[in-house]
Amino acid sequence: MLSSTLLLLPLFLLNSASAKIAFPPLSGSYNVGTTSIKVTDTNRTDILAPTPNTPRSFVVQLFYPTDNSTTAPLEPYMPPATANFYETSYGLPSGSLNTLQPHSHTNATYAGPCKPGIVILSPGAQTSRHLHTALAEDIASNGYVVLLPDYIYGAEIVEFSDGTYILSTFNNFTDADVVPLEATRVGDTIYTLDHLSTILRAIPGADRITKPGKIVMVGHSLGGSTAATVMGADSRVLGGIAMDGTIWGDVVNTGFSGSFMFIGAAEHYVATYESWGRLWAKLRGWRRELHLAAAKHITFSDAVLIVELLGLRAVMPEVAEELVGSGDGLRALEAQKVYIGAFVDMVVGGRRAAEKGRRVLSGADERYPEMEFVQ
Ligand SMILES: *[C@@H]1O[C@H](CO)[C@@H](O)[C@H](O)[C@H]1NC(C)=O
Ligand SMILES: *[C@@H]1O[C@H](CO)[C@@H](O)[C@H](O)[C@H]1NC(C)=O
Ligand SMILES: *[C@@H]1O[C@H](CO)[C@@H](O)[C@H](O)[C@H]1NC(C)=O
Ligand SMILES: *[C@@H]1O[C@H](CO)[C@@H](O)[C@H](O)[C@H]1NC(C)=O
Repeated sequence: MLSSTLLLLPLFLLNSASAKIAFPPLSGSYNVGTTSIKVTDTNRTDILAPTPNTPRSFVVQLFYPTDNSTTAPLEPYMPPATANFYETSYGLPSGSLNTLQPHSHTNATYAGPCKPGIVILSPGAQTSRHLHTALAEDIASNGYVVLLPDYIYGAEIVEFSDGTYILSTFNNFTDADVVPLEATRVGDTIYTLDHLSTILRAIPGADRITKPGKIVMVGHSLGGSTAATVMGADSRVLGGIAMDGTIWGDVVNTGFSGSFMFIGAAEHYVATYESWGRLWAKLRGWRRELHLAAAKHITFSDAVLIVELLGLRAVMPEVAEELVGSGDGLRALEAQKVYIGAFVDMVVGGRRAAEKGRRVLSGADERYPEMEFVQ
């Protein structure tokens, strides 16, 4: 969820509307393909839907390694209604978000077999999946299949390939809303785990995916809380990351034995942030606490790219600062890629990747001074 202060942003000058600004380079060596599907769980009633007895549906966007020689077109950053929604709420000129160009190729063929791991990347509350594109495609460029869910009614806008869309029913999001929102996400995740092979078949060339086994769940804010709750309930998820944000629910009292990493921003440390301290004390597996210096809650999203690549910092420095902090957003994204990538390698990357991941996570690195190793 983005700060409402942006609502009043005046228009600012952009490059000519047609000039594309590429996302920062991918850290992995694979080109990336992407495709999306709508999933319906006929066994579950959607408790967030305004109409009673609606079966629960959600969208999953898949990112995966594809061939260097792919001729599939690049996927636009956001579909039209979603781009329009965020341009309006950020006060950005019409067309500006789609001057940003990610690296993923629409419906390209899977290039594997690559790495054995599967990564579920869970957005923050109310946040469209599209605002986590940079991290999703970067993890995929390192050989993994990434599932990026878009939670219908739990995201401000979820748009389908035919241009229709559903807006969130939570226009005034309160703490009490977290309970049904998180329960719904947990249900969506368990459904995804139960039907993983079917969902992966949406990828062109999916028959080349060697048996999908090991799973990591990385989440921002409510997504990190969801990762922890799922790990407390289901041992199929071997590792999780919480990028900032409160951990909700009973998992803070019960913990789990999988690997878990916190990455905090601002004043959020295990030592001072109540739900983090409680969960930390109950973790029985590998655990680590990192802290991203000079960052804010929303630094863990594509907001860093919107701020830095669209030149927001030069035009409205105080708004940029309030959104993603005083640190350079591009550096913050790079540090996230390095340490989240290392965790994924360590937990689900296979033997050689695991060794490399463990080394990266063993202590601070002077090349990434913005990532503090707390414990
Ligand atoms: C794709 O091309 C890049 C740049 O030429 C190269 O570094 C990389 O190794 C290639 N990736 C694969 C999987 O062949
Ligand atoms: C619905 O639930 C039943 C009983 O729990 C289960 O056997 C079945 O596989 C489920 N169907 C789907 C589509 O998940
Ligand atoms: C990608 O594949 C999906 C599923 O087959 C299809 O609905 C969609 O139109 C395709 N997109 C493009 C741009 O070809
Ligand atoms: C949102 O909720 C708060 C606290 O419950 C309330 O004070 C405020 O009036 C609500 N705003 C809108 C626009 O409904």
